[in-house]
Amino acid sequence: MGDGGFMASYYNNETILFLNGEFVKAAEAKMDFYSQSLHYGYSVFEGIRSYKTVTGETKIFKAVEHYERLKNSAAAMNMPYHWTTDELIEATYETLKRNKLQDAYIRPVVYAPQNMKFDVNEQSFIVIEAWEMQPFLGDKLLRVMTSSFQRPNPKAFYIHAKAAGHYVNSILASQEAKAKGYDEALLLDMNGYAAEAPGANLFYEKGGKLVTPALGNILPGITRATVLELCNELNIETEEKFFTLDELKTADAAFYCGTAAEVIGMKSLDEYEFPLEWNNSVSRKIQLAYKELVTAPFRLPPKGEAINAQPLLIEVND
Ligand SMILES: Cc1ncc(COP(=O)(O)O)c(C=O)c1O
Repeated sequence: MGDGGFMASYYNNETILFLNGEFVKAAEAKMDFYSQSLHYGYSVFEGIRSYKTVTGETKIFKAVEHYERLKNSAAAMNMPYHWTTDELIEATYETLKRNKLQDAYIRPVVYAPQNMKFDVNEQSFIVIEAWEMQPFLGDKLLRVMTSSFQRPNPKAFYIHAKAAGHYVNSILASQEAKAKGYDEALLLDMNGYAAEAPGANLFYEKGGKLVTPALGNILPGITRATVLELCNELNIETEEKFFTLDELKTADAAFYCGTAAEVIGMKSLDEYEFPLEWNNSVSRKIQLAYKELVTAPFRLPPKGEAINAQPLLIEVND
């Protein structure tokens, strides 16, 4: 995982976070050094972005989808979860407001109490942090390297869950790619098919069609789903299937997508240079449509109406 050359400043003396129902100063917040989460990577989290819309409002993009995934991740990991999506979305908007943030990266983490045994906990805790972040992988076309690390085997982990421990694999892959002078890694799955980046999903373009790895051995990305929705609206043909590295190296273009990475094109994969000029690709159209979608205006619902009644996919112009 990288900062793409943009280091985030996570917090300062003024920063407020949401900690188990209260808003507290990040600099004064405490975490338990005996937490099972710290020792074993046993926690679940989300990565969400908010945007300043073109009309100046703050909009958390796909808030419901992210908090529903957090709940599902906790359930997969047998972690107690006693929050509602609505209350967490409200707490997140309040966290943004208290930190005067509009374009932000938001990181909720559900973590465990003290427990060095491998049994189920009776309690979970939650923290919601937010900070300013530039594009996670930068904004230039990426030079990608096929990793020597595979994605975790779904028979070893619940791969659809966004669990902290899974990210040791991501860190190793990203560090390896950077040490070899690349921008990012591409990991294969345990069957040798192209899977995903350490923190983003993969698409390739061939003859105007977009192809992405089928679900099963990857994190089911919310951005991946959004790209598929955008393709549907823009009449771009798509396919979800398992494919090899050899097939990927015949593509016209390719990109990674994720909440943090947004939509970011690839220049090359190992020795293979994607031949299609990025600005002439269908992938570029999707990159622009995604940018337009995340910053499209929307109004908060009138008081008393559920926050998740907000329209989540807003019209995109061709
Ligand atoms: C391993 C992995 N794959 C894919 C993604 C993209 O998911 P999303 O679009 O929901 O952010 C992420 C980021 O959360 C990730 O960590």
